[in-house]
Amino acid sequence: MKPLVTQNIESLRPYEPGKPVEEIQRELGVADPIKMASNENPLGPSPKAIEVMKSACEQMHYYPDGGCYYLKEKLAKHLKPYDIEPHNLIIGNGTNEIIEFVIRTFVAPDENVVTGDPSFIIYKLAGISHNREEITVPLKDNLCYDLTAVNRAINDKTKVVFLANPNNPTGRVFDIHEFEHFLTHTPEDIIICLDEAYAEYVDNSEIPNGLEYAPYRSRLIVLRTFSKIYGLAGLRVGYGVSDKSLISYMDRVRPPFNVNRMAQAAAMAALDDQTHIRKSIEINQKGRKYLQSEFKRFGIKYYPSQTNFILIDFGKPADSYYQALLKKGYITRPVKNYNLPNCLRITIGTDEQNRGLIQALTELPDA
Ligand SMILES: Cc1ncc(COP(=O)(O)O)c(C=O)c1O
Repeated sequence: MKPLVTQNIESLRPYEPGKPVEEIQRELGVADPIKMASNENPLGPSPKAIEVMKSACEQMHYYPDGGCYYLKEKLAKHLKPYDIEPHNLIIGNGTNEIIEFVIRTFVAPDENVVTGDPSFIIYKLAGISHNREEITVPLKDNLCYDLTAVNRAINDKTKVVFLANPNNPTGRVFDIHEFEHFLTHTPEDIIICLDEAYAEYVDNSEIPNGLEYAPYRSRLIVLRTFSKIYGLAGLRVGYGVSDKSLISYMDRVRPPFNVNRMAQAAAMAALDDQTHIRKSIEINQKGRKYLQSEFKRFGIKYYPSQTNFILIDFGKPADSYYQALLKKGYITRPVKNYNLPNCLRITIGTDEQNRGLIQALTELPDA
């Protein structure tokens, strides 16, 4: 008898999200757990987005605008300095969905995808679920992408390279010089998908901004999201920026109505609230500085981050630390599935949450 499921799906391990708050309440009886596991914005959505969502409720019997016309118009206006028109944009049900589009649209069954390891696990999962070969290239010892090695790993069958900058789960970055060298030395028939989910948190001018590389758009797709700085992870909105023709090909595989009506309305309102964005950046930079200096003070190894999370390394299995923190009401993210069994990834929170986390960490035996 033929197996019902294809071999690639048989081997696929589902994505493991950060533990939901409700699960910790239910299983550990912690009344008010603090989630620092999924790189969400601790300030929540913009108040303007919340207002718009309330009034959007009454329109929920209508299908959304499948082409996200007004959201694209607004985004294009917002991104005007980068020479971006609505036809340079695709909107997805989170960036996650656009990663799927990229593989489905451009990678043929006998072609492969190259990415770093560890890097955002969805590149791997999307590759496996579409039965495409995935070539992974180890990061450098400092957990930064090794773009020279990525370039070397490219072969005749490579169609797409996924680069996360800053990278998840490490928070590390490559610089303009490394990126431009990579851009100019990769074969021209390869699409570079530069995932900048955390771009707004970067405070170093040496780090490339993918939106500035308009001349390369015929083979560059830049991904951004409303899930992080815009505080709308629950609604699922992300966007891709590229050349008109690559966008129109991806549009062919996009399911109709992939971005819901409330998500479109909230994303537009969030774009209008740049005060909320500035506040979110500020609190993150302050928190990042505080947490990194406290880790240093307590001798906890950490990887300097350019994101809204920090990877810490206990030098021994992090499981017991993770469990102990859970009991104290702090949900962090184990990264064993990224082959980093000694590490935890911690989302930067509000001042109070950060102080509480440090207090909890220092109360753990031998932390
Ligand atoms: C590097 C990277 N890309 C993309 C995403 C997914 O973003 P979205 O919520 O827009 O699907 C994440 C989320 O954690 C991420 O870390």
